[in-house]
Amino acid sequence: MEEAACFQLAQRMTSLQPSATLAMAARAGAMKASGIDVIDLSVGEPDFPTPEHICQAGKAAISAGKTKYTPAAGTPALREAIANDYTRRSGLAVTPAQVIVSNGAKHSLHNVFTSVLNPGDEVIVPTPYWVSYAELIKLTGAIPVLVETSIEEDFKLQPNALKSAITPRTRMLLLCSPSNPTGVVYSREELVGIADIAIEADLSVVSDEIYDQLVFDGRESISFPTLRPGLESRSIVVAGVSKTYSMTGWRIGWTIGPPGLSKVMGSLQSQETSNPCSISQYAAIEALTGPQDCVTLMRNAFQLRRDLVVERLSQIPDVKIPDIGGAFYAFLDIHASLGRPHGPPDSVTWCEQLLEKEHVATVAGSAFGAEGHVRMSFAASEEKLTMGLDRIASFLSTIQ
Ligand SMILES: Cc1ncc(COP(=O)(O)O)c(C=O)c1O
Repeated sequence: MEEAACFQLAQRMTSLQPSATLAMAARAGAMKASGIDVIDLSVGEPDFPTPEHICQAGKAAISAGKTKYTPAAGTPALREAIANDYTRRSGLAVTPAQVIVSNGAKHSLHNVFTSVLNPGDEVIVPTPYWVSYAELIKLTGAIPVLVETSIEEDFKLQPNALKSAITPRTRMLLLCSPSNPTGVVYSREELVGIADIAIEADLSVVSDEIYDQLVFDGRESISFPTLRPGLESRSIVVAGVSKTYSMTGWRIGWTIGPPGLSKVMGSLQSQETSNPCSISQYAAIEALTGPQDCVTLMRNAFQLRRDLVVERLSQIPDVKIPDIGGAFYAFLDIHASLGRPHGPPDSVTWCEQLLEKEHVATVAGSAFGAEGHVRMSFAASEEKLTMGLDRIASFLSTIQ
């Protein structure tokens, strides 16, 4: 039977792109499996194991039979642990009713967009942006309005650019600090400037703070709703355990938002996925309430790697990077190496040639709405990073 005749794709699916980062990671994985010594700098995943005490909590949950449905929005104990952790770190008191636990922060973002956006609504997304934002927004029929930023301004959204992007159809602003893919961290002053415009234009703000604990050199990651009184009612914070506790596979993320909207997102989730994995929820309680020295250890390791990457990249001509204050990515401006007679014409070809010639996997800037750039993750050992950077330098030296 002709498949196409039975399943004509829904309109909303016809332009959906698969995640470019996961696609590159899968390609690098296949090359590795065939015996090629690929250095995979494509993936946004801490390379540390999940800390042992957290794994033990997961195992204990299985042994204790905590393997059944939980409330759709998450167990009361986990919602309370998340609310307490956020209140303690941000200084803004939130209640468990404001917390909805989902199957990862990506799922949380889907819940927010689906619950709030109507077809034709505009969402301002500063570029470079994390790969899934635009696709998830488009699935609701809303329109991602991409606002360019520049490396000269450390890829930070400028107040004037934000103001000019606002139209009567603008409903929402999406922020990500520390940023994937650029690693830059907004200061309090910069965020206050943005917050004031959001209030004036009556926008809701989704603040993706999943890297909030991965900040370097004593920087502070400021949670958006804390900036001004009254912001709480128009802000939704998205976060999770994936990056902070190296728990990407456990699939626990959450939103912290106004109670009414949170209730709606809980109902959505009750129909779409029921609860997030019960075992992972118990492990996440341990992550948030147990010893936190694992977080410091991983942060320090990432900072050392950041130093290594910045030092090495500064010696490579033709590459520029912004000030990396957090997360674990370097976003390379590769314009200078594009368009030469025998070189790659664009970032996708650049990454393909780097993978084929030097066996280093990175992700093209075009996937993040920023052609002329490439993202490399530094969630890899120093040895691998050194080898990867040697190979990138060698690749660039051959582009004529
Ligand atoms: C900026 C950002 N937000 C959200 C996510 C989703 O995280 P998860 O679904 O693993 O919780 C990621 C993962 O790469 C990310 O980089």
